[in-house]
Amino acid sequence: MLNFEIIIYLVMKIFENKSLKQLNTFGIDASARFYTECESLEDIKEVLSNTRFAGTAKMILGGGSNLLFTKNFDGLVLKNNLKGIELVDEDNDFYYVRSGAGEVWHEFVMYCLKNNYAGLENLSLIPGNVGASPMQNIGAYGVEIKDSFHELHAFHINDKALHIFTNTDCKFGYRESVFKRELKDQFIITTVTYKLRKKPILNTSYGAIEKELADMGVQEPTIQSISQAVCNIRSSKLPDPKVIGNAGSFFKNPEVLRSKYEELKKEFPTIVGYDLENGNVKLAAGWLIEQCGWKGKSYGDAGVHKLQALVLVNYGNAKGSEIFDLSTKILESIKDKFGVDLEREVNIV
Ligand code: FAD
Ligand code: EPU
Repeated sequence: MLNFEIIIYLVMKIFENKSLKQLNTFGIDASARFYTECESLEDIKEVLSNTRFAGTAKMILGGGSNLLFTKNFDGLVLKNNLKGIELVDEDNDFYYVRSGAGEVWHEFVMYCLKNNYAGLENLSLIPGNVGASPMQNIGAYGVEIKDSFHELHAFHINDKALHIFTNTDCKFGYRESVFKRELKDQFIITTVTYKLRKKPILNTSYGAIEKELADMGVQEPTIQSISQAVCNIRSSKLPDPKVIGNAGSFFKNPEVLRSKYEELKKEFPTIVGYDLENGNVKLAAGWLIEQCGWKGKSYGDAGVHKLQALVLVNYGNAKGSEIFDLSTKILESIKDKFGVDLEREVNIV
């Protein structure tokens, strides 16, 4: 009896042909040839040393909120469930807080707010897990994680060693990092450490925050009231994946040369653009998509959200390939009408 129990606890459970429908916020009915959940670094080491998976493709899954499955995954999906949040250091100005990759991002933000660790409040209510936060340098309401990121630990799938990445090593950009580019699919992020301020620097520059704080009757904002304002704005604008399948913004907001922007502005005076430090202009992709008549359109269960044209949705049983095809039609129409190239933000599998 005792021996039997030991076997149960020591051998990691591997599922075959596992449905991923409940594990991606688009709600796409795709499956994984093999699937396992890792609760610790030891679990990761164990599964990667299993010779059965030596030549098998591997995919790391967090909360599944930035993925579109266009087909079944013919390999091993490792769901990263590494938990734990700890204060690892502090100095005069900062707290250094380390989180396991499998912690839910919003819960981590709430933990920081409860302890008055400042810097992540504008990033409240972004779906997904902490481990994916550096992947695309998540951002919202005037802030990106790179502004508070300290370092991360990541396990190399092939050399099977733990590596440390600093802020510079991650090569963060707008919805970009080294892990989406040259190091794609090579590392499993195990912990992320944030450097959070003891004295907050409040960022209410994103117009809607000021208005929401005023509507809430807040005269002296705090990190907690800014978080609440951000949650209110997000809930009013973005579809809840529990109700309608989606992965947030499907495309990035494109950056164009100022000369291109001026040219477009003459023809389309209401075009929405934001000045960038490098002199270029970032266009609101949602505006471009709406102008091409896509907002609220649907083809079967694949559609463009009726309130936010940048968000593609699954109204029920859309296939990932149908959503992908819709995104291709959108890309083409934006290119035709404005001569601008959109780039998908969501990771296509
Ligand atoms: P997943 O979707 O599981 O994975 C995303 C990618 O990261 C995949 O390539 C995966 O293989 C890889 N990955 C995940 N975890 C690890 C790990 N531990 N190690 C190595 N690779 C890993 N994003 C924003 O930036 N700003 C927003 O405002 C925003 N709003 C959103 C609103 C909605 C309604 C939704 C559904 C999504 C939104 N997103 C936003 C996108 C999404 O929330 C983020 O990209 C989030 O960080 C994804 O986390 P995840 O754990 O779900 O990652
Ligand atoms: N707009 C339209 N029509 C639409 C949607 C937007 O005209 O259907 C215009 C609005 O007029 C607005 C502008 O586009 O002036 C910008 O819209 P919004 O403030 O909703 O932000 P966004 O650019 O669409 C970006 C991020 C979001 C992030 C918000 C808030 C990207 C790709 N998206 O969206 O991130 O939450 O700003 O900071 O940068 C995500 O990455 O998944 C995501 C949701």
